[in-house]
Amino acid sequence: MTTLRLGIAGLGTVGAGVVLIVQARGDLLAARCGRRIEIAAVSARSRDRDRGVDLSGYAWEDDPVALAKRGDVDVFVELMGGSDGPAKASVEAALAAGKPVVTANKAMLALHGQALAEAAEAAGVPLRFEAAVAGAIPCVKALAEGMAGNRVTRVMGVMNGTCNYILTRMEAEGLPYDEVFEEARALGYLEADPTLDVGGIDAGHKLALLSAIAFGTRVDFDGVELQGIERVSIDDIRRARDMGYRIKLLGVAEAVGDGVAQSMRPTLVPADSPLGALEGATNMVVIEGDAAGQIVLRGAGAGAGPTASAVMADVMDVARGHALPPFGQPAAGLAAASRAVGGTDHAHYLRLSLRDEPGALARVATVLGEAGISIDRMRQYDHPGADAPVLIVTHPCAADALARALAGLEGTGVVTEAPVALQIQEV
Ligand SMILES: NC(=O)c1ccc[n+]([C@@H]2O[C@H](COP(=O)([O-])OP(=O)(O)OC[C@H]3O[C@@H](n4cnc5c(N)ncnc54)[C@H](OP(=O)(O)O)[C@@H]3O)[C@@H](O)[C@H]2O)c1
Repeated sequence: MTTLRLGIAGLGTVGAGVVLIVQARGDLLAARCGRRIEIAAVSARSRDRDRGVDLSGYAWEDDPVALAKRGDVDVFVELMGGSDGPAKASVEAALAAGKPVVTANKAMLALHGQALAEAAEAAGVPLRFEAAVAGAIPCVKALAEGMAGNRVTRVMGVMNGTCNYILTRMEAEGLPYDEVFEEARALGYLEADPTLDVGGIDAGHKLALLSAIAFGTRVDFDGVELQGIERVSIDDIRRARDMGYRIKLLGVAEAVGDGVAQSMRPTLVPADSPLGALEGATNMVVIEGDAAGQIVLRGAGAGAGPTASAVMADVMDVARGHALPPFGQPAAGLAAASRAVGGTDHAHYLRLSLRDEPGALARVATVLGEAGISIDRMRQYDHPGADAPVLIVTHPCAADALARALAGLEGTGVVTEAPVALQIQEV
């Protein structure tokens, strides 16, 4: 039985998790992929840090690029993170040296996925990234392989556990956003730059990768419409629930005409749908294809074990000699993503704060009507102050009609705060 020797760059949460699986499951891995998997060498910034795993049997490199080029490394495993810098340099070095690469780095792939996929294919080696999207959930494999016979119509995902944690905790405890945000920070759930999480950027990176596989296009992260959860209030959460919905930071990539619409934003989903029932930091990916219909994948989106599990699945595919282009089809054949104009029509939740004066509601209804938007449901809530909170659920309408209506509402003189408008996604 031949041995596959790994060079692991990055020994943090995920890297140490991978080391643990390789050390603990040697026989099982060998039985499943027909080769022994061993670690030849590792790299991180600090050689002295205790990482809770025994690294004494492995060669050490300070420089991940040197690690990628080592003669005794068959597969380069990049687990440092960062879209550029040492992660990109070392992955490029490994591919140039003709070595397969496994990475968990969504930021790097969202920005440089096409160039790296072309480099991998030119070198004739795999570049795998299951762990980059939704942790343990095998959604890259599901899309690229399991759904390969389908025309995919829509991919949706709750793929940032921190945002889902914040939103479900706000709802469960009735706490305001700022308080739960600080709690999440204290628990170490937030990235050093929290806008990567709460601004939807991290989840947007993941959606862009799934979208490329689903629709056979080049990764187009700039084409993802991004809106974070910072403006979601406890009132929105409660009122959405009153109407039978829950609010999730939901990514949606869908085929619209000849283009693809990609968005990552707070969205209302039916409370009794699988997405609506999702709690805490758990992730979910929903894939819809013309032959398969809808499939739903749910699981841990982060953490040492779950992410290392996905890394190992890729390593074992490499060990088996399983060749698959990084985005499911040859990179040269991926079309430039054509951004859909407008997207499909959706119902919307509108929260307005109105001056409590005669005719205020009529003026709102007129502005909506002039934009071609009809009202499905409307509720007015008790209000101690001068302004009246009003909630409107619209019938499905186009995004540009909604934008016209929102601009028009500003000019009515009866709206006292910027309206909150959230899409409702039927799933
Ligand atoms: N954590 C998760 O749950 C999760 C889930 C999915 C995907 N990911 C992705 O997995 C990757 C790793 O995440 P992580 O959470 O494991 O990060 P982490 O805990 O911060 O670990 C990063 C590791 O990279 C090393 N490193 C950073 N810069 C380096 C450099 N210039 N040269 C050599 N080593 C360097 C660090 O060394 P020191 O330890 O010496 O500082 C550390 O060991 C990222 O791309 C992340 O987006 C993580």
